[in-house]
Amino acid sequence: MKEADWKDARAPPRSLEHIAVTMPGPKRKLEDRKLRVLGIESSCDETAAAVVEDGRRILSNLIASQASLHAKYGGVFPEVASRRHVEVIDRVVVAALEQAHLSFEDLDAVAVTRGPGLAGSLVIGLNLAKGIALASGLPLLGINHLEAHIYSLFLLEETHPVQFPVLCLIVSGGHTELILMRDHGDYRRLGATLDDAAGEAFDKVARLLGLTYPGGPAIEQAARSGRAEAFRLPRAMLEGTWDFSFSGLKTAMLRLVQRLQPEIREGKPLNTAHLPLPDLAAAFQAAVIEVLVRKASLAAREFQATQLFVAGGVSANQSLRTAMEQAAPCPVRTPPAELCTDNAAMVAAAGCYRALARQGDALDIDVLPDWALGVTEGGGIRQP
Ligand code: KG4
Ligand code: ZN
Repeated sequence: MKEADWKDARAPPRSLEHIAVTMPGPKRKLEDRKLRVLGIESSCDETAAAVVEDGRRILSNLIASQASLHAKYGGVFPEVASRRHVEVIDRVVVAALEQAHLSFEDLDAVAVTRGPGLAGSLVIGLNLAKGIALASGLPLLGINHLEAHIYSLFLLEETHPVQFPVLCLIVSGGHTELILMRDHGDYRRLGATLDDAAGEAFDKVARLLGLTYPGGPAIEQAARSGRAEAFRLPRAMLEGTWDFSFSGLKTAMLRLVQRLQPEIREGKPLNTAHLPLPDLAAAFQAAVIEVLVRKASLAAREFQATQLFVAGGVSANQSLRTAMEQAAPCPVRTPPAELCTDNAAMVAAAGCYRALARQGDALDIDVLPDWALGVTEGGGIRQP
């Protein structure tokens, strides 16, 4: 992969007044009031590195995406993902430091995604972070990927101050979770998907409709000219719980496509030219959005949330944003597009708060592919 293909995911510059750092880390120079954290992300199919200052100022944010590599499989191929991480991760980290005009001595900590994610991908980032910590004496911070998605919204603190409690809806390719955040590091998981994640449903239905991977943007694009009411699809509300389920909707889409084109049952290839793709995409997207919006706004009301955060890849969906803003009982915050999908700036931002709380990790930590957030009361940020 050529460096020219890496994406510079820095948000446009903002005017910044940095937060007071109350607890200097081991390598902090006293005259330097800025806390700088290197973030590394390799939990799935993006190899990313970023430097964030004071939890909110992005100095660099590089993403080497593998999406085109996995497109032919219609989803992430784990072994291919880890091998690509191995190839590019060193260069991505070095380039992120170069772009920030910093060297390791200028940093205060190295934060890395420890889980949840693909084990073989996570170890690549964690091992590099350990090497950096060992060689430079920087504290190592193992970050929960879901927590990092939440901290993508703390990167906007300057213009959008955060007030707790916050109701967080994390919607990505691997997760659909409703989490109540009562303070930094204080999480309560209210509910999660019982089967497919919202993004996973987008990816699988896109594949069914012959659209490209990742499926979310492809479905959103196709849905623009479609009529959501053209087909009536099920909405699994799972009343009385905060959980989600999207597998029934996925099956309903399969049945619908089989009804429209019975010959695919005999193994014949899908003839997309004869399918009402925009209507199918719009009806599917509306069904997913209705469930997400209804449950998140109900939970925000029930737990008297001051703000509703929607983060993770699916939060890039414009129709979801609009519907959420219309229904929510409190202000809705969504990250800018470049911070919705996986990136390392959100990892570094979460790391800044961990560094302030002096919660470093030992160098012998392992990856946690199934690391849940907020299952134990208040236990999200700390060690499992
Ligand atoms: O957060 P993310 O980059 O990776 C995980 O942690 O899983 O999320 C990727 C997911 C994919 O399933 C992708 O299809 C979905 O986010 N996604 C979208 C959109 N952009 C990305 N889903 C719906 N609408 C979008 N515009
Ligand atoms: Zn993610």
